[in-house]
Amino acid sequence: MAIREIVTHPNPILRRKAHRVEKFDQGLQSLIEDMIETMRAAPGVGLAAPQVGVPLRLIVIEYGEDENSDAPPKLYVMANPEILRASSETELGVEGCLSIPGFVGEVERAAEILVRGQNRFGKPTKVKAKGWLARIFQHEIDHLNGILFIDRTDKVWKAAEEKEPAQANVSN
Ligand code: NI
Repeated sequence: MAIREIVTHPNPILRRKAHRVEKFDQGLQSLIEDMIETMRAAPGVGLAAPQVGVPLRLIVIEYGEDENSDAPPKLYVMANPEILRASSETELGVEGCLSIPGFVGEVERAAEILVRGQNRFGKPTKVKAKGWLARIFQHEIDHLNGILFIDRTDKVWKAAEEKEPAQANVSN
């Protein structure tokens, strides 16, 4: 396992549409392990393969739904994720991105989504997510399509100006 360098805006790698994962081989498993380690070291709650310079449709997310519970955060690894359903209800939230260090923005996202993809071994999987987890999935899937959170909002500011650092620190 190794921590990989995180590509930052405006590197053009972040703007390309990533390719489908076709081979669930040892190379992919190593990439997944590196992405998990890189996300944890950053620290962040999510990471997409293009953010480590690999143009594949692959994301990792680690997020604890309930900060007050003792339950450990849940780790999600998903290849080829697709949003099957999104609620028409939306929520505004402040998010950051490991590829845009030091900045956060207020982004409107679907409040609930159903995501379909494949696990790290290629087996089909579905995740129903709401709230922050739904936000993180939407943010990471955007990365696979070359979209950054700054494309979805006019309200971007330096993280230091954020009055509620707990939320501003949620970087993905
Ligand atoms: Ni991001």
